[in-house]
Amino acid sequence: MMTEIRKKIFWTGIKDWGLRHFHGHELSTHRGTSYNSYIIKDEKTVLIDTVWDPYREDFVSDLDKHVGLGNIDMIVINHTEPDHSGSLVNLLDSMPKKDVPIYCTKNGAEALKKHFHRDFPNIVVVKTGDSVSIGEYELVFVEMPMMHWPDSMLVYVKGAGVVFSNDAFGQHYAAISLYNDEVDECELYEEALKYYANILTPFSMLILKKIKEIEAMDLQIDMIAPSHGVIWRKDPVQIIRKYAQWAQEYNEGHAVIIYDTMYDATRTMAEAIASGIEKQGIRYKMFNAAVTDQSDIITEIFKAKGVLIGSCTVNNTVLRPTAGLLDVIKGLRFRGKLGAGFGSYGWSGESPKLIGDSLERSGFRTPIEPIRVKYRPSGEELAECAAFGEKFAKAMKE
Ligand code: FEO
Repeated sequence: MMTEIRKKIFWTGIKDWGLRHFHGHELSTHRGTSYNSYIIKDEKTVLIDTVWDPYREDFVSDLDKHVGLGNIDMIVINHTEPDHSGSLVNLLDSMPKKDVPIYCTKNGAEALKKHFHRDFPNIVVVKTGDSVSIGEYELVFVEMPMMHWPDSMLVYVKGAGVVFSNDAFGQHYAAISLYNDEVDECELYEEALKYYANILTPFSMLILKKIKEIEAMDLQIDMIAPSHGVIWRKDPVQIIRKYAQWAQEYNEGHAVIIYDTMYDATRTMAEAIASGIEKQGIRYKMFNAAVTDQSDIITEIFKAKGVLIGSCTVNNTVLRPTAGLLDVIKGLRFRGKLGAGFGSYGWSGESPKLIGDSLERSGFRTPIEPIRVKYRPSGEELAECAAFGEKFAKAMKE
């Protein structure tokens, strides 16, 4: 399917309505996703990115039908992750011209070879500021290393005011429309933020720097067309403003309590802690780590200022969902948040300290000592948990 999104520029991607997990099973995608590929039909015909390889046959046959494979003069690969480059080999093998130039970064060239283990006869390595005229329009390349792979780049179409940003500014969102002004804004922002929280958080400092660099280029931006989700057509720069906000130790001021429990003792502690937090005028949300989607929990952590994680102790450590969660948190390198551990135990009782230590190593400020309760909390111990919650909330207000 091809849809003209701007004069001479067409969306030719795939909407994956049924996808529920991405990156293997690492990331949940409750609203599916899309793999956005684009065609520019100027004096030269340019393909911007491909789609994930399970869709390669549909993609190539659609391109042949609507563009003609022999008419494609150049291919831009903004990012080599298989959800965008996966159909490239199938496409090249189907094209009559075997030496169509492929524009990518230096890291992209290396990654293509390592992904596909074949020779690409005409790779054109580009760097920030390089440009190529394609007729009425000119393509300007901007490297985006670690946003979110070393090879990432964006392409600005001078003359059309379109930014092909690849993963940046995208969302895993198979939507009713291609455009931001024709979809449910709540759904859109939920997915855009989830994408940022789960994928881009570790690169926030680089993102801030890159935004400043792009602002200094003083580009006329009329449309931002990412490789997943909807195209930012109405007030496109709003998503750049949002990224600048999300990249700066973002939080919404509330606490999130995440607990993992076997016989409800740790859950009871969580509720008592919550009462103390609330008493100090701090709002909170609460989730059971064992039954809540982990990507959604990460999004909630991203939005929170204070993060309390509880698990009972089993075999000298935390329960399995908490162990996985702490590991994911470590990799995401959140900044500007407070953390604390809590939990019940029967005999050894290591969990609360393990959680607190892990959060501290992950960059959280841990203003108070973890709290633990042997077996089920008594009324007195629940009062101690509430006091713990109050103390933590006071630290959040400092
Ligand atoms: Fe959508 Fe980094 O791939």
